[in-house]
Amino acid sequence: MSYATLYASWKSDPEAFWMNAAQAIDWDKPPSRALNDNRAPFYEWYTDGQVNACWNAVDRHVKAGRGDQIAIIHDSPVTQSQQKITYADLQNRVANLAGALRAKGVETGDRVLIYMPMVPEALVAMLACARLGAIHSVVFGGFAARELAVRIDDCKPRAIIAASCGVEPARVIQYKPLVDGAIELASHKPEFCVIFQRPQQRAEMVTGRDLDWHDFQNGTAPADCVPVAGNHPAYILYTSGTTGAPKGVVRATAGHLVALNWSMRNVYNVGIGDVYWAASDVGWVVGHSYICYGPLIAGCTTVVFEGKPVGTPDAGTYWRVISEHRVKSFFTAPTALRAIKRVDPEAKLAARYDLSSLQALFLAGERADPDTIKWAKAALNLPVIDHWWQTETGWAIAANPLGVELLPVKIGSPSVAMPGYDVQVLDEGGHAVAPGTLGAIAIKLPLPPGTLPTLWNAEDRFRKSYLSTFPGYYETGDAGYVDEDGYLYIMARTDDVINVAGHRLSTGAMEEVLANHPDVAECAVIGVADALKGQSPLGFLCLNSNSARDEAEVVRECIALVRDKIGPVADFKRACVVERLPKTRSGKILRATMAKIADSEPFNTPATIEDAAVLDEIRTALCGIGLAKV
Ligand code: COA
Ligand code: AMP
Repeated sequence: MSYATLYASWKSDPEAFWMNAAQAIDWDKPPSRALNDNRAPFYEWYTDGQVNACWNAVDRHVKAGRGDQIAIIHDSPVTQSQQKITYADLQNRVANLAGALRAKGVETGDRVLIYMPMVPEALVAMLACARLGAIHSVVFGGFAARELAVRIDDCKPRAIIAASCGVEPARVIQYKPLVDGAIELASHKPEFCVIFQRPQQRAEMVTGRDLDWHDFQNGTAPADCVPVAGNHPAYILYTSGTTGAPKGVVRATAGHLVALNWSMRNVYNVGIGDVYWAASDVGWVVGHSYICYGPLIAGCTTVVFEGKPVGTPDAGTYWRVISEHRVKSFFTAPTALRAIKRVDPEAKLAARYDLSSLQALFLAGERADPDTIKWAKAALNLPVIDHWWQTETGWAIAANPLGVELLPVKIGSPSVAMPGYDVQVLDEGGHAVAPGTLGAIAIKLPLPPGTLPTLWNAEDRFRKSYLSTFPGYYETGDAGYVDEDGYLYIMARTDDVINVAGHRLSTGAMEEVLANHPDVAECAVIGVADALKGQSPLGFLCLNSNSARDEAEVVRECIALVRDKIGPVADFKRACVVERLPKTRSGKILRATMAKIADSEPFNTPATIEDAAVLDEIRTALCGIGLAKV
């Protein structure tokens, strides 16, 4: 079937399309219908079905006789180790952990926070929660204790599962002190913590609260899969919004299973026995959908990679992993390729490896710049497929559906809308614009299965953030256009979210931290163009008029403050002191104009001489740190 026919078949009968896709999932009780619009504009999928995510990701493959197939390959250049786990072994590990969690009181609906690096135990922990119907919330290791505390207070976990440490190329990061610090800061106290001790750095245990991963599983009975309702939350994943408070994106179980399974076959063109690798982290949505659940639901072998694209040990690591494990579909962020390209511009290292298993390279997480795509295409001589999605959607909104047909690739475009998504480009009044015209990208409701039904404990915020600007639509927060052939082009965010090395960050959250510095009267954070990371955060600080502090010292303290409060992942390394910030008449800071000046792009000329003077001052400050080159 062609893409056009497939998309048309969804559009003409969405209910039949998603009921048909649901047949690829094992149900304890099949749903009587796909869409539940009883509470529109809040939609649900497969509400009256009964299903278990862990059964679909693990047990059903063992039952089907594929217990000896490798489920997980852990490839860890930072610890110089590798491990292979079969589906049968994974089932045992998950059932044992789930049994031990249950023995400590964890039941369906309880939240469990997971703070782990890229080790197989992170997936085991996620799947053990899914087995019980407990709702996990995985937090990326690069976040600091305060961020962890905010998430603890929001989702109120009964337990925390953490590793003793993570391993970055230059240093071992102790996770446990961050967990201890977060629990100290949070008002909600989890009942217990399960600690996976890694040999690189063992953690000090808190008596009476902390349990050793292995010891606490001794003598407890393994747990079977607990069926849950289709709309039962599988997990909460916090993501950056406009304010400092992260949004708790909820993923409902049944739609998640159906959509991920559909996407593995139709987008990534993989199935049972294929090796699939998404080089991301379990702390991000890519890690949830395409390191853990998607590949396992589809019966693939998933690669859990603990390393970096460069320096672990060299820029050929990705090609080594593909060649050694016979990876068929590979998914990474453009930043990672830019990092490789910078070290190995002629892709000589790629030529050293047998990459014949690879059928395509998939890119997402940030805008894929044409240079990077062309470089990758030349290096690999394979389709390089950009696809666009968000934490909120959980799977591709737009892609080139390799498993259906490879459409002509248009460089700079993540191709076309996937079935389930009616993507529209709207003007400020909510009217569809003509092809080629820039506008806000919105998706006509309902969103398809697998996308967020709401935000955790924040239905109002969900409505305000996504549903209120364009009634009847979901507002993506991205701006762009569609061409005559229906190809989408994603150009920028319409809010204060920036994308640094494929990591989604909130400038508002950084501003909240900076504003707390005693010498800072006012501040703004913008994202400036960065050749490696796509964007890089930059702060502007207006100091209190009575501050006699050395400006450079305040800047250093502010940088340290953001690292301490948000974490190294914020990558906040530059700030400059200015007298005033440019503002509109109503007092809104002109962040977009400042970003344009920093990137040496044209911007609207200010209305008054005074406004022009403020912008001149900004330009001078930017020149001082090597930006705003004319
Ligand atoms: N735990 C603790 N700290 C972490 C971390 C983790 N899991 N991940 C990153 N950090 C730290 C890094 O050590 C670094 O700290 P530093 O400021 O002390 O150097 C900081 O956070 C920023 O990390 P990162 O953005 O990864 O920058 P980098 O300079 O270490 O590496 C790249 C640059 C391009 C190699 C790296 O950003 C990369 O691999 N990007 C691809 C990202 C990706 O795949 N994203 C997918 C999201 S879908
Ligand atoms: P996240 O929720 O972290 O996955 O980030 C989602 C955001 O990243 C999107 O809203 C876009 O701004 C950006 N993004 C993701 N994929 C792409 C892509 N292929 N092209 C352009 N931007 C992208």
